[in-house]
Amino acid sequence: MPAKTFYIETFGCQMNAHDSEKVIGTLIRNGYSPVETPEEAGLVLYNTCSIRDKAEQKVFSRLQQFKRGSGKGKVFGVLGCVAQQEGERIFERAPHVSLVCGSASYSRLPELLVQLEAGENRVTGLSLNRGETFETPLTRRDNPHRAYITIIEGCDKSCAYCVVPFTRGPERSRTSAGIMEEARQLAGSGYTEIQLLGQNVNSYRDPSPAGWDFATLLSRVAAVPGIRRVRFTTSHPRDFGRDIVEVIDAHPAICNHVHLPVQSGSDAVLARMQRLYGRDEYMRRIEWLKASPRNISLTTDIIVGFPGETEEDFHRTLQLLDEVEYDSIFSFKYSPRPNTAALNLDRAVPEEEKGRRLTILQEKQRSIQIRRNSALIGSVEEVLVEGRNAALGQWIGRTSQNRVLNFASPATNGDSLLGRYVSVRVTRAGPNSLVGEAVLRA
Ligand code: SAH
Ligand code: SF4
Ligand code: F3S
Repeated sequence: MPAKTFYIETFGCQMNAHDSEKVIGTLIRNGYSPVETPEEAGLVLYNTCSIRDKAEQKVFSRLQQFKRGSGKGKVFGVLGCVAQQEGERIFERAPHVSLVCGSASYSRLPELLVQLEAGENRVTGLSLNRGETFETPLTRRDNPHRAYITIIEGCDKSCAYCVVPFTRGPERSRTSAGIMEEARQLAGSGYTEIQLLGQNVNSYRDPSPAGWDFATLLSRVAAVPGIRRVRFTTSHPRDFGRDIVEVIDAHPAICNHVHLPVQSGSDAVLARMQRLYGRDEYMRRIEWLKASPRNISLTTDIIVGFPGETEEDFHRTLQLLDEVEYDSIFSFKYSPRPNTAALNLDRAVPEEEKGRRLTILQEKQRSIQIRRNSALIGSVEEVLVEGRNAALGQWIGRTSQNRVLNFASPATNGDSLLGRYVSVRVTRAGPNSLVGEAVLRA
């Protein structure tokens, strides 16, 4: 094994981003130091995503770059969802890879590193049923103000299109005591925003005798002194109860934002997707959220071109966008994935038609966002300052509703506002962000 330096590139969702923070902490604890480029590194890791085919291909194109000699003397490892999905096949496709490890086996990393250091070149961590969560006090967080906390790993649903149950295994909830301890420590070290993570946070069940459900956990995290913002993702509509809306109403620290993936507005498509809810059931949850005095921002995920999706089904989804008026959406063309039930469905939608539907959907949503964001002009929003755009002379903030609000602040005398909470008056609105000016306090 060459010098104990490492480089890691992360693809995929927030769960993966946070897993990498834990992996980095574990590596540092085991004597490795981070470097800026893969060229400088002795150990090159890719934490991969397999949610759509395009995401999966990225890791193979990265590995390809090192195929001919330039990777000599380096150790390559594939972590995350492609690692779990492809397993030892990765060694065949990319023989210069020595480590393949899925997220359910990260607690074994120290042991796997020792094997690599001893010169083994086929090291794996691929068991999916270890029944444990990856807990480490060594997390190296990327952002000094907002911290992720994993509350539940894996997924017990079986949406017909989705690889996650195969790549992350069955659901495992962390103990409420462990989560609360982490939240208090984060507050103690200056974090003010916490984001609770899981593929389906609503099915959180405290494994300890306390037995908290998700709504209880959310309310307790929101009450931790020093924590000013709590976010959570992702919610599954089937498991999203009214108690969660009540907890949001009762706790100002919980942000005005719920991401509630709908996937389709058509009952026929939802049934074939095995989403376990229909349009009416979904809309009932939207009504609870809209009835809240908190002015909760709604966002969603949508898949177009699922097998059998007719023009009429697609129009039901377009109508749903008008009905709900989301503040933003993530939308995707259906991508067939290994092992999933949808592979057996007939009536595939041609690629070109998927593309056409995606464009129509995104154009409709863009006009909804322009309208909704414009309605905010003149209002004052509190932002957490997350960055600085020096070229524009603007600070980059995020509102409780999760909108990006860039603003000028004439009265800071060059002081950094990073990590501070600032009131900003909105002066302009685009489809994806707002512009404003800091409100000066008298
Ligand atoms: N657990 C979350 C998110 C899962 S992945 C949930 O249940 O919503 C994030 C999004 O990727 C999904 O909501 C879905 O919209 C999209 N997605 C998942 N599998 C896909 C596939 N095979 N093709 C296209 N989009 C997919
Ligand atoms: Fe995938 Fe469905 Fe689980 Fe979300 S709930 S991770 S879409 S199987
Ligand atoms: Fe991708 Fe795995 Fe997340 S497939 S979206 S990295 S759970």
